[in-house]
Amino acid sequence: MRTLDDLIADGVADRFVLLRADLNVPHDGYTITDDGRIQAALPTVRRLREAGAKIVVMAHLGRPEGGPPPGRDPLESLTAVAGRLGQLLDERVHLAKDVVGDSAEAMVGRLGPGGVAMLANVRCDARETGSAQEREELAGELAALVPGGAFVSDGFGVVHREQASVVEVARRLPAYGGDLVARETEVLRRLVGDPDRPYVVILGGSKVSDKLGVLSNLLPKVDKLLVGGAMCFTFLAAQGHDVGGSKLESDQVDTCSELLGKYADTLVLPSDVVVASEFAESAETRTVPVSEMPEGWLGLDVGPETVAAFGAVLADAATVFWNGPMGVFEMAPFAAGTTGVAEAVADSPAFSVIGGGDSAAAIRAAGLDEDRFGHISTGGGASLEFLEGHVLPGIAVLEESS
Ligand code: 3PG
Repeated sequence: MRTLDDLIADGVADRFVLLRADLNVPHDGYTITDDGRIQAALPTVRRLREAGAKIVVMAHLGRPEGGPPPGRDPLESLTAVAGRLGQLLDERVHLAKDVVGDSAEAMVGRLGPGGVAMLANVRCDARETGSAQEREELAGELAALVPGGAFVSDGFGVVHREQASVVEVARRLPAYGGDLVARETEVLRRLVGDPDRPYVVILGGSKVSDKLGVLSNLLPKVDKLLVGGAMCFTFLAAQGHDVGGSKLESDQVDTCSELLGKYADTLVLPSDVVVASEFAESAETRTVPVSEMPEGWLGLDVGPETVAAFGAVLADAATVFWNGPMGVFEMAPFAAGTTGVAEAVADSPAFSVIGGGDSAAAIRAAGLDEDRFGHISTGGGASLEFLEGHVLPGIAVLEESS
């Protein structure tokens, strides 16, 4: 993969650089609630600016699938993203009203060395996520926006997506991996290669079905796999527990039973959980052993005994990967499990990698110093697919073109 160093050595002053970033930040429609991905994009943008490049940022927000999300103007949302990026760079970031139309052309034409402009949400052009032919067409138009330019792929969170601004455009322009993509892939390669042991993985989140690929790929390789989040209830049901009104994927119970049979020494499940009378912050709550979940109550977090048991495993670990919260951490009564596990990971002497959106957001929400973790990935889906051993199209295309 050609790197940013290569591009800068090739010469980038007064040259266009089309930069794919993943600025898909959590927001409430108007306000960004966690700017971690914007912060993570800064090193590459700053280096390009210092080298005098004319930077055209491509980014997406949500999944508008070719049109604005109902009841909300996606440009307004990217306005907040462009505004925050500009604030952090101390330089105005102009935002086009379209992806490849008149507004984008005019804005790109006005860019000077070190200037930064952003195209409208690339996913508002249906060709971004369309057929191969549509993606080729959009990539051609994107490349034409930046005559003589180069492409820098730095949106690690989207490299698992076969999309025009990630893959096809990399075949149209000289393509380079940005600093974030380089760092993320280097760290994740360490995990799939020969990680220091004990190697402990923590998986949470809501659905077992989403995590089956990574579960079956990781279970033979790790020393312990700790399971929390709503997905633990399908495992607990497979162990014969009555999980009350908790989220349960009935069609996955047999698969969970098989995994429990095959990896009994590796899988670690919660021993206690926080249950609630309803899915609400104001609900009545109780902490109970997993064998005593009351009928109709919902399990919304792991309990303190579980956090302590997970903490004991993490204290001896040499490598840790964590993806997915332990409970509904956005609601205060169900945040302690996620915060407790985050603290245990931070305290662990292990090289720790936090994979993805919610776990990373939980760490920042808990106010933990990011330096206490080895690496906080910006790509939830991308890091899981990497660990599953998939070829990520956005990385493969960079490797092909070097
Ligand atoms: C993410 O939020 O994980 C990335 O931005 C990718 O978004 P997507 O899952 O909508 O492709």
